[in-house]
Amino acid sequence: MKSNRRDFLRLTGLTSIGLLGGCNLKGTHLAGEESKSSTLDHIKKESEKSYSQLFNMSGYDAAPKLDTVRVGFVGLGGRGSAAVSRLSYIEGVKINGLCDVVPEQAEAAKQRIKTPGHSPVVFSGDEESWMEMCRRDDLDLIYIATPWPLHAPIAIYAMEHGKHVATEIPAATTVEDCWKLVQTSERTKKHCVILENCCYDFFELLTLNLARNGFFGDIIHCEGAYIHDIGESLFFRGKPNRSWRLKENMTRNGCLYPTHGLGPVAQIMNINRGNQMDYLVSTSTDDFLMNNIAKKLTESEDYFQQFVDAPFRGNMNTTTIKTVSGQTIMIQHDVTTPRPYSRIHLVSGTKATAQKYPLPPRIATGHKGWISEEEFKKLEKEFTPPIVQKLGEMAKKIGGHGGMDFLMDWRLIDCLRNGLPVDMDVYDAAAWSVIGPLSEWSVANRSTPIDIPDFTSGEWKNNKPHDISLKNGGTTGVQI
Ligand SMILES: NC(=O)c1ccc[n+]([C@@H]2O[C@H](COP(=O)([O-])OP(=O)(O)OC[C@H]3O[C@@H](n4cnc5c(N)ncnc54)[C@H](O)[C@@H]3O)[C@@H](O)[C@H]2O)c1
Repeated sequence: MKSNRRDFLRLTGLTSIGLLGGCNLKGTHLAGEESKSSTLDHIKKESEKSYSQLFNMSGYDAAPKLDTVRVGFVGLGGRGSAAVSRLSYIEGVKINGLCDVVPEQAEAAKQRIKTPGHSPVVFSGDEESWMEMCRRDDLDLIYIATPWPLHAPIAIYAMEHGKHVATEIPAATTVEDCWKLVQTSERTKKHCVILENCCYDFFELLTLNLARNGFFGDIIHCEGAYIHDIGESLFFRGKPNRSWRLKENMTRNGCLYPTHGLGPVAQIMNINRGNQMDYLVSTSTDDFLMNNIAKKLTESEDYFQQFVDAPFRGNMNTTTIKTVSGQTIMIQHDVTTPRPYSRIHLVSGTKATAQKYPLPPRIATGHKGWISEEEFKKLEKEFTPPIVQKLGEMAKKIGGHGGMDFLMDWRLIDCLRNGLPVDMDVYDAAAWSVIGPLSEWSVANRSTPIDIPDFTSGEWKNNKPHDISLKNGGTTGVQI
């Protein structure tokens, strides 16, 4: 077991002990320091490698249909335990495994199962318990909601052991791991789904359907973001065992959480399916807040002293992407400034514009202002996609960010049960996630442009946009 783990970690390049649980920040090597003194050359080198496609997983509809999807969860903190609850409502789901390094977390997740018929085995007490779970043959899908650096290693290991995977965001934190996800999914023909719930936000879905119907004309520019003031809570989550998110913000400087903003607009722009992201430039501000929060917290508790003068990430990162079709995408990342939550979600085309944040969502067809509420409702009635029409109200009841989390989970299970291509495949997982490390490189190199790898190996020219009609699925029920 131990040597198995060691070999696997060597193969996946996951060699830093700090990436696996515990995360004692004192004495760990800080990449933030490195980024100040070097140019993160390894990121550039990895981004320049190219690989040949082994098999095209885009539109892959030959995975055997699974009448029952047997699920094992890894990472049962806030996000993972909520997913256990949501999936337990979905027909055809059998929760067979629950894994968390902390036994209490795994046991608590068991209590969140809402329907009868599940008798999950608990895997816990060890940082590598997830490997044991992934090796079992009573599982079809591994659902990953651990700290970021574990997403790719678990996903790769699970696919190697014959499981489909669904991973929380970002799917990987290095360019190398993005490629490994792609190659493993292609070689094993297992789905590797990125759990980008914002792609199922009702307004994001409305704009996707409007775009598909030509409402915006040609798309020129889109914007997305993760702007969420969670600054001080990062430090409290930073207490032993929960320090991973703070550590990311102390060791990497860039757009660390790009996919909430990027996923929905990448789908609107048909990225990986007729379009491709070409290159990006990225800029970060300095840190004006995190170190001050650290200093303030030391006044009440010595524990926080270890964070004072850490090389905190710049508070606001702005990344601009150019597509091969001549459009731009602007993505922002900010978890500390005092301002209302925003994912921006701006879609700007030759005929119309939509923007969700600041709320409420709006649409315009000219410079004179936003269309009236009545006109908005008319568009909503005509263009709300079938998944929202069918399950929107139920999803709101079950919950999860206003219902989008449930729509995402239901759609994933419905695709697996009907043998359909998944909406967000391994190429999306890789392309959306790679913005993290590439932006780090650009920030460390005075916003120099960097090319975005083509994870589809040229197949983006032939791949078709994912289906939003539900015409080949929609058969999975919900027990509520
Ligand atoms: N899509 C969304 O809206 C959304 C929202 C919140 C979090 N997330 C994502 O979900 C993931 C988890 O976030 P969270 O807020 O639940 O974090 P968390 O810290 O609450 O939970 C992480 C869990 O992983 C466990 N863990 C750590 N190392 C492990 C190991 N080696 N084996 C098994 N379990 C291990 C921890 O004990 C903890 O219970 C992150 O990737 C985060 O980005 C997504």
